[in-house]
Amino acid sequence: MTKRIVVLISGSGSNLQAIIDNCQNGSIDGAVVGVISNRPDVYGLERATSSEIANQVIDHKVYGSREDYDCDLARAINAYQPDIIVLAGFMRILTPAFVQQFQGKMVNIHPSLLPKYQGLNTHQRAIDAGDDVHGVSVHFVTEELDGGPVILQAKVPVFDTDTSDDLAARVHQQEHRIYPLVVGWMCQNRLVMVQDSDSSTAKLDDVILPAQGYAAD
Ligand code: GRF
Repeated sequence: MTKRIVVLISGSGSNLQAIIDNCQNGSIDGAVVGVISNRPDVYGLERATSSEIANQVIDHKVYGSREDYDCDLARAINAYQPDIIVLAGFMRILTPAFVQQFQGKMVNIHPSLLPKYQGLNTHQRAIDAGDDVHGVSVHFVTEELDGGPVILQAKVPVFDTDTSDDLAARVHQQEHRIYPLVVGWMCQNRLVMVQDSDSSTAKLDDVILPAQGYAAD
């Protein structure tokens, strides 16, 4: 059965596009059945419309509490009956109740080599720290912000002359390669999150992945 994918966005949606493209060309055995944005008028919504994918805005600004927002968001997601929930530049901190509901089915992409640089401004922070390697991580979403088990990372070089925008562009190219790959693994049932009392890990083809995810060199 073709897996049903819901993508949450807050902006341009270039990762959404990469996933749509890979579904359309058969590289991902799945279909994006819904796109939800917490911000109105973002380009990612146009991308969904262009591909004739149902899309909607659930604007966080009209909610009084994070709990109320997440409750409506969960209801909207469930209406699509998804197998997989993909956070693609979705700039919201999620409540524990929301995360628990979708645990093991929800992945995020974060523009750093986790556990380095959780949170915002990752590219500038890598430059400021003098790192010569930076990158991006795809991970399962757990209650800890940017803290769930890493599935796959990609590295990029940092050059002396790089601005934050230069580095972001280089990282973005890698995002568009690794995110569809991971979503494809999920669609093939190759990837699971295993949880015990105090930690969680990612397993690919029944093999527990190391902290830096699959095939890091
Ligand atoms: C990406 O850099 C992603 O790593 C971060 O937000 C950005 C989203 O970009 N979480 P886009 O909307 O997919 O173009």
